[in-house]
Amino acid sequence: MSIEFFTRLPLHGETFHLPGDPRNRGDWNNPSRPGTGAVSNFVVGDDFTYIDYLSQIARGAEIAGFDGVLMVNTQFGEEPWIVSSLLARETKRLKFVAAFHPSSTSPWNAAQAAATYQRATGGRLVWNIIQGSSEAAQRAIGDELPHDERYERAGEFVHAVRGYFGSESFTYRGKYYSASGGGLRGPLRKAPIPRICTAGASDAAKEFAAQHADYYLLLAEDPAIVAEHIRDVRERALKYGRSDIQFGLSVDVIARATDAEARAEAKRIFDEGVAAGVVDVVASITEQLSPTFQKRRKLYHDKEVRDYDDLFIAPNLWAGYGYIGIPPGFALVGDYAAIVERIREFQALGISLFFIAGYPHLEEAYRIGEHILPHFRSERVGARVPANDDAAAGDGFERPLAFASGLDTKQRHSGANG
Ligand SMILES: Cc1cc2nc3c(=O)[nH]c(=O)nc-3n(C[C@H](O)[C@H](O)[C@H](O)COP(=O)(O)O)c2cc1C
Repeated sequence: MSIEFFTRLPLHGETFHLPGDPRNRGDWNNPSRPGTGAVSNFVVGDDFTYIDYLSQIARGAEIAGFDGVLMVNTQFGEEPWIVSSLLARETKRLKFVAAFHPSSTSPWNAAQAAATYQRATGGRLVWNIIQGSSEAAQRAIGDELPHDERYERAGEFVHAVRGYFGSESFTYRGKYYSASGGGLRGPLRKAPIPRICTAGASDAAKEFAAQHADYYLLLAEDPAIVAEHIRDVRERALKYGRSDIQFGLSVDVIARATDAEARAEAKRIFDEGVAAGVVDVVASITEQLSPTFQKRRKLYHDKEVRDYDDLFIAPNLWAGYGYIGIPPGFALVGDYAAIVERIREFQALGISLFFIAGYPHLEEAYRIGEHILPHFRSERVGARVPANDDAAAGDGFERPLAFASGLDTKQRHSGANG
């Protein structure tokens, strides 16, 4: 099975979540901490802003050998589509996974914007269709639909988008959307539809994924639970005649040359988080978060925790980030060989797309690129192998770019608008 590695751009701050980190990477820095002045605090007209830092990470990730970047959409974070557009021309091949709520746009608007982006970038847009973390968060952004109906609407949304990409005269009348003779035409018609990712552990989320998504995304929690989600979503997808759904996994890493170094870093972050009181803050807002989040918190954090190592839930898999409120919550902690082994185990469960990152994102992108990604070279059909790396490449030339246009091989052979 081929494998792809993406990392993450911190659209809601780099050091914002790290309790004891004094680094200043722009105006997302916790203002109570003295900064080092690495990136200016944003005022209109500053020479450097937070986007300059994001740009550095994107370029660093690309140079370090990542295939793409995940851009999480939070209520208070930077807007992923805009950031994708700003950074596309500063990078060459990197793909951008933009998370968005169907409620924030219309199927036509999304199709048109995506087609323009795909044409301009050689097909580097991937969508992560999200439904929000809680009812309160959805209300705050003006979405009144209850949880399960949001997924029903998302299903229609994707159906309509596929209709606009697949036809010059798409007609549809649904519960939430309609179209009469619309569709991408002219040059826009050549654009490949973005790959579609989605996540969520609810029945509604899984049904949506099974029917409409190319990738179902998971967090790296207990491997037995990950395996069960994969089995469940695969089975549901087969009901819709879909045997080709793929699986992505998001996990942070604290990877170091030795296990002791990695654990020391996990302990440092944990101790600083506890000292800063973030555990109580996270506990106090748990009730406002989604049932899926609450369930996870109960499963992994609702116990006596005396030290960072009480939070290992499987070999090298640490739930300490979630405990001190650092998303996505789980990290692989260990030496490089152990991290590679754990990634391989998740791969064996059926994961082909990995989102791996660490704090700070820039430095860790290089570290992962140098110490983890090379172990997967032969399976990385989408990645470039450095021309001077004869041992890895065999012939010294670039590997074929199966995803060069954001399409898989089957799609490329059957026409752009598939
Ligand atoms: C890899 C991954 C990335 C996610 N990215 C986002 C995001 O950017 N914004 C967001 O609001 N939710 C994000 N989520 C959360 C899910 O989209 C979903 O809302 C959540 O899992 C709860 O869904 P459920 O209530 O249907 O179980 C992400 C989840 C995963 C596993």
